[in-house]
Amino acid sequence: MESIKRDLFGPGPTNVPDSILQALSLPTIGHLDPAFLGIMDEIGERLRHCFQTKNSLTFVLSAPGSIGMETSFVNLLEPGDKVIVCINGVFGGRMKDICERVGAEVITIENEWGTPVDPDELRATLEANSDVTAVAFVHAETSTGVRSDAKSIAEIAKSHGCLVVADCVTSLGGVELLVDDWGLDVVYSGSQKCLSCVPGLSPITFSKQAVDKIKQRKSRVQSWFCDISLLMSYYESGEKTRAYHHTAPVNSLYAMNEALRLVVEETLQVRWDRHRDAASHLYSRLEAAGLEMIVAAEHRLSPLTLVRIPEDVDDAAIRGGLLNNKNIELGGGLGKFAGNAWRIGLMGQNATVDRADFIADALISEL
Ligand SMILES: Cc1ncc(COP(=O)(O)O)c(C=O)c1O
Repeated sequence: MESIKRDLFGPGPTNVPDSILQALSLPTIGHLDPAFLGIMDEIGERLRHCFQTKNSLTFVLSAPGSIGMETSFVNLLEPGDKVIVCINGVFGGRMKDICERVGAEVITIENEWGTPVDPDELRATLEANSDVTAVAFVHAETSTGVRSDAKSIAEIAKSHGCLVVADCVTSLGGVELLVDDWGLDVVYSGSQKCLSCVPGLSPITFSKQAVDKIKQRKSRVQSWFCDISLLMSYYESGEKTRAYHHTAPVNSLYAMNEALRLVVEETLQVRWDRHRDAASHLYSRLEAAGLEMIVAAEHRLSPLTLVRIPEDVDDAAIRGGLLNNKNIELGGGLGKFAGNAWRIGLMGQNATVDRADFIADALISEL
């Protein structure tokens, strides 16, 4: 197969470090081989560190970020449960869709695209609905480049006795995320963003309260593949007697193990700071060239920046030119931002001042 090499500055996947690609190409072994079970344990340990959690049920689902979203809701909610879903972009909208399919009664809080979830609105909605059992929100909205205040949202939800589901697909390994300190109950992510791993995996973690709620379910989880009670015996066996559930993607998990090792080696704080510094440099380069950042400075999500496309500029021509002539992928706008914004990802390995300069130079030269 012909090798195609691109510089990936879209919303993910991002470029994958060589050591992760090398891990991916190691010889495949059986997914129940004791040696592989040891690797799964190592992944669990490293993932707990990256999520900053002690949750024992912390593992990597064998499919992309969307399965993390699906698994969270199909397990936590039963038909008739009342849930608040905070929507400030595409992915909050997907959460609502899944909750409705589960048969839950969904109350939405909708905030303007490009702004964060409003904690005061959440508080007021919870005060008016004492029977809500869960609150869901997207920590890092990849469709809008906004970071919401996960700590405040969780604090408010907890004070009303709710479980908290957080989509951290574009925050894990890129911006501060403290699962236990903030009181997040179900948190999922994706491999292809700030972890700089290959696409197709979804790290996830469940608090003890979430597991207890799931154990008290009256109805069976309608999805066999996503049923945590079945997955638990595969991922959580202490005596290395894991029961077969499905065939884990062995090589992709080698890659994940290496990606997590790199995060632990770098340390979380250094990695978060690196993402922040790269993004700040990108803002100043682009603003100096007359471009406008869509999100207010205090709500920006460092791994992903939304830039307004100037009125006289042809979006397709610019992105097509970068891809076809320079092998550079720049993200297009999604949902309400389609055609009027670019999404520039500086994630994982690409979150450096040098790479920010590289993409800024490339984009500015096309204008
Ligand atoms: C915030 C957010 N949630 C969920 C998803 C879905 O992840 P995936 O495309 O890996 O299934 C994405 C993907 O970009 C995302 O950005």
